[in-house]
Amino acid sequence: MNPYVALKHFHSYWAFIVVLLSLILLAATLYYFFTKKPIHIGLRKVSFYTVLSFHIQFVFGLALYVFSPVVQSSWADGIAMQTGPRLLALEHPVMMFTAVILMTIANAKLKKNSYITGSILAFVLLATLCFYMIPWTQWMANF
Ligand code: HEM
Repeated sequence: MNPYVALKHFHSYWAFIVVLLSLILLAATLYYFFTKKPIHIGLRKVSFYTVLSFHIQFVFGLALYVFSPVVQSSWADGIAMQTGPRLLALEHPVMMFTAVILMTIANAKLKKNSYITGSILAFVLLATLCFYMIPWTQWMANF
C-alpha cells in the first residue's frame, strides 16, 4: 500500500471518530448550558478526547495534503480555484484548520470554567459547523 492510500484510508476512517465525538460534545455542551449544571468530569473527558482526535486528524490531514495526487494536480493544472478541486485543495483544509483552533479554544475554556458559558457553546457550535466543508459526497462514496 503506498503512503497516499494508507493516509487516505486513515483520514477517512478517523473522520468518523472526529465527527462522532464532536456531535456528542455539542449535545453535552447544549445540555449543560441550558440546564445550568456544573461541568461534570465526564464532559471534560469528552472535550479532551474530541480535541485529541482533531489534532491527530489535522497532522495526518497535512501529510495527506502533501501526498494527494488530487491536490497536486489541482495546483499544477491551475484548476485549484474551480469548484470541485477547490474543496479539497483549499476550502476543506482551511475550514478544518479553523475547526481545530475553535475546538482547542473551547477545550481550554471548558477546563477553566465550572459552567458552560455562551462562548464555550459558540466555539463548539462553530467548530461543528465547519464540518460543512468535509467532502461528504466523496467520503460517502467509499462505503
Ligand atoms: C480535522 C478535521 C478533518 C476532518 C474531519 C477531515 C475529514 C476528511 C474526510 C472525511 C475526507 C474524505 C476522505 C475520503 O474521501 O475517503 C477528507 C479528505 C481530505 N482531507 Fe481532510 N479532514 C480534516 C482535516 C484536514 C486537514 C487539516 C487537511 C490538510 C491540511 C486535510 C486534507 C484533506 C485532503 C487533501 C483530502 C482529499 C484527499 C484526496 O482525495 O486525495 N484534512 N478529509
